[in-house]
Amino acid sequence: MSEMILVLDFGGQYNQLIARRVRENNVYCEVHTGLDLERIRALQPVGIILTGGPRSVYGEDALLPPTEIFELNVPVLGICYGAQAMAKLLGGTVKPAQVSEYGKTQVELVGASKLFAGVEKKSVAWMSHTDRIFDVPENFSVTASTVNCPVAAMEDAAKNLYAVQFHPEVLHTVEGKKIFANFVDICGCKRDWRMSSFVAESVNRLREKIGGGKGLCALSGGVDSSVAAVMLSHAVGKNLTCVFVDHGLLRKNEAAEVEAAFSKFDLNFVKIDAGERFLTKLRGVTEPERKRKIIGEEFIRVFEDVAKKIGAVDYLVQGTIYPDVIESGLGKSAVIKSHHNVGGLPDFVDFKEIVEPLRLLFKDEVRQAGRELGLPETLVSRQPFPGPGLGIRIIGEVTAQKVSIVQEADAIYREEISRAGVDKNLSQYFAALTNMRSVGVMGDGRTYDFAIALRAVLTDDFMTAEAAQLPWDVLSRAANRIVNEVKGVNRVLYDCTTKPPATIEFE
Ligand code: XMP
Repeated sequence: MSEMILVLDFGGQYNQLIARRVRENNVYCEVHTGLDLERIRALQPVGIILTGGPRSVYGEDALLPPTEIFELNVPVLGICYGAQAMAKLLGGTVKPAQVSEYGKTQVELVGASKLFAGVEKKSVAWMSHTDRIFDVPENFSVTASTVNCPVAAMEDAAKNLYAVQFHPEVLHTVEGKKIFANFVDICGCKRDWRMSSFVAESVNRLREKIGGGKGLCALSGGVDSSVAAVMLSHAVGKNLTCVFVDHGLLRKNEAAEVEAAFSKFDLNFVKIDAGERFLTKLRGVTEPERKRKIIGEEFIRVFEDVAKKIGAVDYLVQGTIYPDVIESGLGKSAVIKSHHNVGGLPDFVDFKEIVEPLRLLFKDEVRQAGRELGLPETLVSRQPFPGPGLGIRIIGEVTAQKVSIVQEADAIYREEISRAGVDKNLSQYFAALTNMRSVGVMGDGRTYDFAIALRAVLTDDFMTAEAAQLPWDVLSRAANRIVNEVKGVNRVLYDCTTKPPATIEFE
């Protein structure tokens, strides 16, 4: 087992970010809620971090860690609520601040601190609190202040107890990463943890848990479900069945690529060609929400048909990753993820438990894990692709001809973008088929064909996005090739809208 920093979670919204910041320093980190002293000791952490949280440490509903953690001879870092919990438990006072702080705040260091080694004396940090520490506990000294928060940081350096009122885990805190690096050093970490160790340990744990039980996984071909499936296959081999539903609305060659990638792994891979079935259901349907619903529901029906043949399974494997957990509120992640990707859990599939091996990871960490597990780069570095697939990139009725047009146009666009080497800078890019037809001229003849829209966006969180300023030669090469090579298209448009007011997808 690698050395581990334990994050005790008091319900703050940035808690997994804390874990991520620790892992970025090549130290393994786990987030736990409500541990008693015995369990904390059993985990043998080399450092403990107390997170932020929505409560007041003096409130009736306050969650507090066992006071004995400060006597374990292990460095402790309290953040926000965690800082206040440390102050309260060790005899300091915490009360409502006269002025609560929210957002970017200037913090000034006071004196020297190992936690702030190399940190600028004045820098911007992210604050989000209504209570604050008024009196520090005995043997503590104040190490940072803001205008409205005289105790923005405190420490008992002899005991390696540190507390910060601000949030170093949030990137708005300019010196945040340095502070985590310093804490990791204070904990004496060797920094030898790698994603490969996470993968190996997860595989071992899954093997112990599942043993000879049977697992079932719905594969969408996306990164998350693929990585989850392969991790399970390493743990239980043929006891895992992956059902890959090809709804016929995937990108060009995508189904074959997924099948080829999975043929290399030890698992039962079941591919269902359900393209016809989906097209039949979508015939005549033009309303976007209806299309989405039909695709989601049909996915479940196909999955159920296969599951029925397989019979009862012990575990249903889901590729839930941490941002899905945040999106859905803790504890409800499975439901949201499947809604998002495959349209809801099949009620009738008989299973004992859901397994979500990627629950703690962020997207780029999932990609890293995928590489460790031997998934090909084409699958691992794949851009996001919506569950309803090309169905929501074809405005209006979905037909076989339109699917083929958008697949071809999209393949050309992606090829040109990757040939120009601009793909690494883009968050998502694709071709969509507008339902608009317009007059053109080809050779000596008049055409009346479809217009393809090209989209490329830059975004961090996919909640807001801006249109990428693609080099003109890339756009014009793609446009030329599309009108020349794709039958039924005589015009190519570039979508320059931001989100909001537009969305990334077209429907
Ligand atoms: P919008 O169009 O809402 O898209 O701006 C934001 C991000 O979400 C993806 N997306 C989906 N992903 N199932 C998914 O798994 C869906 O139904 C779905 N709809 C949109 C979209 O590709 C973009 O990355």
